[in-house]
Amino acid sequence: MSKTESKKTAAPVAAKVTKHERRDPSQPLSGNQHLLRWVEKMAHLTKPAAIHWVDGSKEEYDELCQKMVDAGTFTRLNHKAWPGCFYARSDSSDVARVEDRTFICSLSKDSAGPTNNWEDPYVMRKKLKSLFNGAMQGRTMYVLPYSMGPIGSPMSQIGVQLTDSPYVVVSTRTMARIGLPVFKLIDQDFKRVVPCMHSVGMPLVHGQADVTWPCNKEKYIVHFPETREIWSYGSGYGGNALLGKKCFALRIASNMARDEGWMAEHMLILGVESPDGEKTYVAAAFPSACGKTNLAMLVPPKSFKGWKVWTVGDDIAWIRPDKNGHLRAINPEAGFFGVAPGTSMKTNPNAMAALRKNTIFTNVALTPEGGVWWEGMTDVPPAECTDWQGNKWTPAIAQETGAKAAHPNARFTAPANQCPTIDPNWEDPHGVPLSAIIFGGRRATTIPLVYQAFNWSSGVYMGATMGSEMTAAAAGTIGKVRRDPMAMLPFCGYHMGDYFRHWIKMQRSLKETPRIFHVNWFRKDKEGKFLWPGFSENMRILKWIVDRARVRAHASETPIGWMPRYEDIEWKGLPFSAEKFEELQSFDTKGWRSEVIGHEELFLDLHDHLPPEMIYERELLICRLQPAEK
Ligand code: GTP
Ligand code: SPV
Ligand code: MN
Repeated sequence: MSKTESKKTAAPVAAKVTKHERRDPSQPLSGNQHLLRWVEKMAHLTKPAAIHWVDGSKEEYDELCQKMVDAGTFTRLNHKAWPGCFYARSDSSDVARVEDRTFICSLSKDSAGPTNNWEDPYVMRKKLKSLFNGAMQGRTMYVLPYSMGPIGSPMSQIGVQLTDSPYVVVSTRTMARIGLPVFKLIDQDFKRVVPCMHSVGMPLVHGQADVTWPCNKEKYIVHFPETREIWSYGSGYGGNALLGKKCFALRIASNMARDEGWMAEHMLILGVESPDGEKTYVAAAFPSACGKTNLAMLVPPKSFKGWKVWTVGDDIAWIRPDKNGHLRAINPEAGFFGVAPGTSMKTNPNAMAALRKNTIFTNVALTPEGGVWWEGMTDVPPAECTDWQGNKWTPAIAQETGAKAAHPNARFTAPANQCPTIDPNWEDPHGVPLSAIIFGGRRATTIPLVYQAFNWSSGVYMGATMGSEMTAAAAGTIGKVRRDPMAMLPFCGYHMGDYFRHWIKMQRSLKETPRIFHVNWFRKDKEGKFLWPGFSENMRILKWIVDRARVRAHASETPIGWMPRYEDIEWKGLPFSAEKFEELQSFDTKGWRSEVIGHEELFLDLHDHLPPEMIYERELLICRLQPAEK
């Protein structure tokens, strides 16, 4: 649906619906002929029993939730303790993103690059057509319009998802701006729309009974970057199904960003406010389940009197240079789809406050009181609960069988505006100014707690060569170190080498570049224990980063970048010895040799698209790693 084409369309029919009127949901809420024709065509293909145009109202949300309660998909939680909250259990085969079933179907295989699965778009379209043929039989097809970014922001983008999952509709109401205001943008402002097709892939034929979590063993998460289209089949979970998130806001948006000179990144955004009211915004790219939500909602230690950390976003940042050559960032989302296990009043009280009401919990455990629980939520587990698969769970059973009450990738879907630290500027249509970018991974060895890149291109190299141990956020081998450039390995919608080039090029549109840093909260000692307390204490590192970005903190030059000395970190309130800090920061030549070999492994694959800066930066690093002459 291009701008010019949609201009021919009729006047909007949307705005007339009022709160008190019961409307017929099958009546279109847009007059855009392109949209109407596409919906008709897709209905013809998928053959749903009904079509429901989503207006985004609270009444509609309540109705859909009630419908899911009646169907057994949702359990209403105890209203007193968990007002407006619901609990869902997915199929045990549909619990995380499926990276090996995720495809970038660019016209040429080379454009997708070696880090993406590619299929010929003609072949894939044929396959999808057969998969979607009749896929929605017996179900309702929802026409779900959404805006990624605040309605009307020049940095926002619009999608329309056709889905047969009411779970997706209600989740998207939390995660994005949906409904009538978006139809209005399509009708009146002729905004470009990214069409998103989604089916759980379980048609109900001849009165077949439904299950509580319909899905299909066969899964396809498909992106057509040239035509800016998304097709997702077989899964109802997270990033596989909430298509505005990873599919649009990262894979498709990274293509738009490359073409239009901006950046779509897997980053949290936070603001650090000093006691005298100076505010510094920072974005940080960590791979899935490596601490973005936690850092975004950090509570400074008590000894940091007067310091505040404000949350702008916890997963995705869209970043653009402004007229003055400064980078500004928006959070395209409106909610948090956060990892539940490990979230507690101790580790992340702001997330705990955000998820107290109006939240959807998926794959956590259900307590007999109608509450939820997950590993790490409280020190003392409940005496008994129902685990994420519906089985009885007790601490004794867990000890005996190792059974987890919550799936490690169990998640909460909570409105961002319920977060006590949500930044007053979080919906600023022009975004917030960025002073620093942080990269980080989960690394038991080799990588220091914190260091700063020498400049932009060494910072891009630092991000490009980032490694991290794999987590439960994706199906795969947990714990194995893999290269995850800029935390975008599963999310970059085009050739990774071209993506590095785009990063390098961004500097040209900037008067001042943000400073670039690397952190690792996860380094372990010989006994396998974390060396760094993390969470709140990360504030100490964040403060050094802010002070460096504002050019007022000391650092020492090392082969890999600038590092703080012990005395450069604010230690008040934390007994942490200089020796332990040295261990955390220690630079181990042997470990770095294998690190550089790991970099080369990735670069070999990307070789013919690598910008020269990456080659030179690698050479410089190797030179600096040479032992000093005696
Ligand atoms: P996605 O939503 O998958 O993108 O994950 P995320 O990057 O937002 O990760 P999140 O903040 O949810 O953290 C994931 C896991 O890491 C949780 O179990 C946290 O408890 C743990 N974690 C977060 N920060 C720290 C830290 O500073 N130290 C340690 N040891 N663990 C942390
Ligand atoms: C991630 O895996 O990085 C997530 C969860 O944020 S999902 O939305 O499923 O991608
Ligand atoms: Mn994420």
